[in-house]
Amino acid sequence: MKISIINGPNLNLIGTREPEIYGNDSLNEYIKLLIRKYPSITFTDFQSNIEGELINEIQLQGDDADAIIINAGAYTHTSIAIADALRAVKCKKIIEVHISNVYAREHYRRESHIAPACMGSICGFGLKSYELAVLSLLH
Ligand code: DQA
Repeated sequence: MKISIINGPNLNLIGTREPEIYGNDSLNEYIKLLIRKYPSITFTDFQSNIEGELINEIQLQGDDADAIIINAGAYTHTSIAIADALRAVKCKKIIEVHISNVYAREHYRRESHIAPACMGSICGFGLKSYELAVLSLLH
């Protein structure tokens, strides 16, 4: 199975960014461990702070990957272009993840343009949201 993990803006700073919300552990390190934990899966791991680069990555991986796990960060709430890209690719097993519980935060975080283009969403379980997404694809 080929899974493409795509992370959006400011997620490179998880571990130091707003630790009261996102915790103290680095997302980069967590994803490295996650990849090592599931050697039977071929992962790609991409992060960018730039909307167009996220779209390029979705287009690059999205016809070939069996699944996409995407945390679009704040673009979740603004980007019709990312949602269009997710709809445009062949991959249909797309999971939206968030580290924090976006429904328990500011009102504007409750709307996701990404969610309707996804099979499902997982949020609020900290970094474990990513592993839960992997497990949902395996079982
Ligand atoms: C986030 C939630 C978004 O609202 C926020 O803009 C982020 C992180 C999360 O993983 O909890 O950057 O996607």
